[in-house]
Amino acid sequence: MSITSEQILHALSHVDDPDLKKDLVTLNMIQNIEIEDKTVKFDVELTTPACPMKDMIQNACVNAVKHFVAKDLDVHPNMTSKVTSSREVKEVLPDVKNVIAVASGKGGVGKSTVAVNLARSLADAGAKVGVLDADIYGPSIPTLFGLQGRKPGQVDGKMEPLTSDGIKVVSIGFLVEEGRAIVWRGPMASSAIKQFMTDVNWGDLDYLILDLPPGTGDIHLTIAQQVPVTGSIVVTTPQEVALADCKKAINMFLNPNINVPIFGVVENMSYFTPKDMPDKKYYLFGKGGGKQLADQFDLPLLGEIPMVEAIREAGDEGKAVSHNAVSADAYKKLAGEMARQVAIKNGVSSLSN
Ligand SMILES: Nc1ncnc2c1ncn2[C@@H]1O[C@H](COP(=O)(O)OP(=O)(O)OP(=O)(O)O)[C@@H](O)[C@H]1O
Ligand SMILES: [Mg+2]
Repeated sequence: MSITSEQILHALSHVDDPDLKKDLVTLNMIQNIEIEDKTVKFDVELTTPACPMKDMIQNACVNAVKHFVAKDLDVHPNMTSKVTSSREVKEVLPDVKNVIAVASGKGGVGKSTVAVNLARSLADAGAKVGVLDADIYGPSIPTLFGLQGRKPGQVDGKMEPLTSDGIKVVSIGFLVEEGRAIVWRGPMASSAIKQFMTDVNWGDLDYLILDLPPGTGDIHLTIAQQVPVTGSIVVTTPQEVALADCKKAINMFLNPNINVPIFGVVENMSYFTPKDMPDKKYYLFGKGGGKQLADQFDLPLLGEIPMVEAIREAGDEGKAVSHNAVSADAYKKLAGEMARQVAIKNGVSSLSN
């Protein structure tokens, strides 16, 4: 007896997306079923290419088809993705699906480094990514991407972002002379940020990452009120002083007048791992601070990034950190967890619509 698409769909209706807690068929994730003799192929459209549960879902699909249809089938799920969005007002950044702000109450905890490596990991997974340097007074994005001294062009009166490994990048640092301090007052800085939203050809993006300046000042308010931010992530280091400042940032986002969702906490510089001892962990700044902060506000801890020389070196040289397995892995996990939280938020909004 020949096998039908209905049988395959019935089998796959027993596989749930573990985050959205509905089955793949109800979620419309199964497409292009092809059956030829004993070979079954179909696409599984995930909500993000960085999905940390990709392998698990793939195996579950194979097992379900074999179990419910026939054991001797040759099952080939093709894992694809289409990043979801819950943005409704699309006057600004019309083709950007998710805008994510990377923040911290404290300076120097590694926001920019996290923003850049998060962007790289998402792009490595296959997502379309942009990075906007919202740190008007201390832009470090040009250096981190190795784009210092480059000038963006213009098309149709709008700025074209520079690109680095396929990531679209915009920073005030591209427009002012290197090393010159920017002495604008708050309103000018805020209007520069607004222009970076409206007067730049960002095009189609799955994720636009905003690297925020330290603190909880004017720029943060402008961004929270005028930029359609999908959500934020808060970066801290493990020690008490950083945690105290991060609480301020979290409370700012939670303030009902600001009301920016928080996807979770990232602990940076969690432990030190020497170059020649990749299995050793030294907790220089204490242990577990990020987890404590996350628990206190009932937020997920999205990742723990070790302190490794290669991250600092890569940052200074504007290169990717993929040459260091320890840190590349930590960023990959972080990107997966963040993309997952974004997909959960988008899933919840679309299901409640
Ligand atoms: N995990 C890490 N391991 C080693 N060095 C790191 C790590 N994270 C960040 N750094 C280094 O720490 C310094 C500060 O990082 P970064 O500029 O990203 O912080 P920031 O929070 O954005 O600072 P600011 O508040 O000034 O914007 C940089 O020299 C960076 O290379
Ligand atoms: Mg920074």
